[in-house]
Amino acid sequence: MRELTLDHIGIAVRSIDEGLGVYRALGLEPTAIEDVPEQGVRVAFLSVGGSTLELLEPSGPDSPIARHLQRRGPGLHHICLNVTDIDAAMTRLRSSGYRLLSEEPQPGAHGCRVCFVHPKSTGGVLIELSEPAVEGS
Ligand code: CO
Repeated sequence: MRELTLDHIGIAVRSIDEGLGVYRALGLEPTAIEDVPEQGVRVAFLSVGGSTLELLEPSGPDSPIARHLQRRGPGLHHICLNVTDIDAAMTRLRSSGYRLLSEEPQPGAHGCRVCFVHPKSTGGVLIELSEPAVEGS
């Protein structure tokens, strides 16, 4: 099996503009800002040394990020690991008793397919698995 890589770290923000503050002060600017309606978020991407920070702004009151902000305020939200075959990874986790937040992979940013693993079953970390979009599709 190929080595897993850290795709990005997700950070919940009340607004992208507010959330960008400290990163702008450090000299970083977002490489892209994208709406992901399927996840109820607007996302700003910041490139940091081979990985990415993902600032997640809720796109409405029903967004999972809006609920997270209500419960915990802004801050670290999830880590995302790259997988080559998300269906196989989901099957393996499910058969080992891990709780997945969706039955099927969901559409993520940049055309990738994603799935979240519930933090209750992972030692408190919300883990996103992401299978990159096939080049050229
Ligand atoms: Co993410």
